Amino acid sequence: MALVIILMVIAAFYAYMVFETTWLKIERLDFSKKGTGLRIMHLTDLHVYMTRIPAERIRKAVMAEDPDVILITGDYINKPVHASEFLQYLHTFTKGHRTIICLGNHDYRAFGSNTEGLQNFIREIEALGVEVLINRTVIVEKDGKKYNIVGFDDLRRGNPDVAKAMEGCIPDAPKIAITHNPDLVLSIPGKIVDYMFAGHFHGGQIWMPFNLEFTILRDDQLCRMGIRRGLQRVNGIKVYLNRGLGNGVVPLRFLSRPEILICTIP
Ligand SMILES: [Fe+2]
Repeated sequence: MALVIILMVIAAFYAYMVFETTWLKIERLDFSKKGTGLRIMHLTDLHVYMTRIPAERIRKAVMAEDPDVILITGDYINKPVHASEFLQYLHTFTKGHRTIICLGNHDYRAFGSNTEGLQNFIREIEALGVEVLINRTVIVEKDGKKYNIVGFDDLRRGNPDVAKAMEGCIPDAPKIAITHNPDLVLSIPGKIVDYMFAGHFHGGQIWMPFNLEFTILRDDQLCRMGIRRGLQRVNGIKVYLNRGLGNGVVPLRFLSRPEILICTIP
């Protein structure tokens, strides 16, 4: 009897963790305090080969929220064979909306030493009208006001070059950085950007007592420092650690719901 109860508890726990991967949450942040300014939708860690959030759900959120710009901070595929699925997924919700993205460690790992394959992948993304920022800045305009969107390359697998990334920045305009791994903020010399949007940690993905999910699975510095999700202030920069949409390792989540962030920047 005890064994049956234990098995039922395990089955219920598993079923809940499957359900949580589908339980999308829209988080909101308003730095303007008035709801006026640049309206950003931030997504990250799509992991299209292991997500239970259909692109159509994101498309509906985009239609409902009508962001000025969609920012996506990496981890899309695990193997080159996932590329076409990702491109279709991305196109479903980005068409007609300005979208600016950077790459994550999984995207680099997918291609390994095949730099030609990676370049082709980037070209295919750009063919959809999506801007891929690798150490580069682009300008976004809203109601006559300009905003710098600075894309830093991935800390682990890419080659982040802070000075190069910021070459195209215009003065007297907010500097909004996107990067995959938020640990990058620790190697930035002071408050050279105002905001940073990142992913990578998945909010822990499967919560465990005593922060075991971070201790066992991650050796990133910020999560060891207890800086793991949501809005944080590091190095004078407002850093947002998004829990992401997809899943890594196993398609399960516990106390870390998939997330879309809507954020207004004055
Ligand atoms: Fe990820």
